[in-house]
Amino acid sequence: MIKNTVLEIRQVKKYFKDVKAVDGITINAVEGEFIALLGPNGAGKTTLLEMIEGIQYPDEGEILINGLGWKKHEKELRAILGISLQENHFIDRLTVREVTELFGSFYTLPIGRIDEVLDLVALTEKQGALTKNLSGGQKQRLALGIALLNNPKIILLDEPTTGLDPAARRNIWEILEKLKKDQGITMILTTHYMEEAEYLCERIIILDKGTILAEGSVHELLQQFDLSEKIVFVSDKTVTREMVPDNGLHALTQNENTYTLRIEDISSYLPSFLAAMKEYNIQYSSLECRKMTLDDLFLSLTGRSLND
Ligand SMILES: Nc1ncnc2c1ncn2[C@@H]1O[C@H](COP(=O)(O)OP(=O)(O)OP(=O)(O)O)[C@@H](O)[C@H]1O
Ligand SMILES: [Mg+2]
Repeated sequence: MIKNTVLEIRQVKKYFKDVKAVDGITINAVEGEFIALLGPNGAGKTTLLEMIEGIQYPDEGEILINGLGWKKHEKELRAILGISLQENHFIDRLTVREVTELFGSFYTLPIGRIDEVLDLVALTEKQGALTKNLSGGQKQRLALGIALLNNPKIILLDEPTTGLDPAARRNIWEILEKLKKDQGITMILTTHYMEEAEYLCERIIILDKGTILAEGSVHELLQQFDLSEKIVFVSDKTVTREMVPDNGLHALTQNENTYTLRIEDISSYLPSFLAAMKEYNIQYSSLECRKMTLDDLFLSLTGRSLND
C-alpha cells in the first residue's frame, strides 16, 4: 500500500547571524510514520521542529504539510497538528483539568473529549491536582494530552521524555505506541536518547550542526556504516593482529591498553577469540561484548558522543 506523504521539508535553512541552526534539510514523512530527530545540544532540532510548527519561518526552502504551507493555510494546519514544546510552563494555580479545559477552549471539541484525553495520558486521577504539584513525568503527560486535544493527525514533540526516569519515560512511550496502533498518527519527536529513537521510531534522522549526518532505521544505519559488533578488552600484554582469529574480523584497534575488535558476529567469534587468548596467555582485566549502538555511530561520524 502506498502511503500518503504528509510532510515535505525541502532544503530548509535558518540562520541566526553566523549560527547555521538549520542548514539545508530535506525530509519527507508518510502517514503513520514515527520519525526521531536525534542529535546533541545545538544540533538544530528545536529550530527545525518550530519551523514545521509554524512558530518560526525558514530563511530559505519550503515546508508543506498535507501539501499546504503556513503562509496561506494556518487555520487548516493548526487543526491537524498537535504540538508539545521543549519547555512547558503551565499556570501554577490551575488544576490539571482546568489547564486542559483552557487549551481545549481554543478548539471546538466534542463533548467528553477532555475526559477522553485525561484518560489517554493517565491523568484522570490527578485532574484535581494543581499543575505545580505534578511530578516531571506527569507534567510531560499533561503536555502530551494538551497536544492531543484536537485529535491531531500529526504530532510534533520536542524532547517529550528529557529528564524523566526510565519508568516515566516508558509510560510516555506506551501512550505514543497506542496512538500509533489505534489512530495511525504521524509523529516527529526530538530526543537525545538513542534508546528512545530506537524503540519508538522506524526512521531516525541524526542531526548535527544543522545538517543531516545519516538517516534510516537503526538496522540500516548500523549496516550502512559497517558498524557490526564489538569486543572491548583491557590487557597489559601487547595483542597483535596475528594473535586474534580472522573469522569475521573487521578491525583491531588499540588505545593504550584497551583493545577493540570490530567483528561480524560475537557469538561465532567469541569462542575462537577466547581460545586464542588462552594460547597466547593473554590475561584481561575486563572484557565487554556488545552490539554497536547509534552512539557509536555518532562518535564515529563526529568524534563526539551524543550526550557530551
Ligand atoms: N533565537 C535564536 N537566536 C540565536 N541563536 C539561536 C536561536 N535559536 C537557536 N539558536 C542557535 O541555533 C542552534 C540550534 O539550536 P536549537 O535550539 O535548534 O538546537 P537543539 O538541537 O534543539 O538543541 P537542544 O538539544 O539543546 O535543545 C544553536 O546553536 C542555538 O544556539
Ligand atoms: Mg531543542
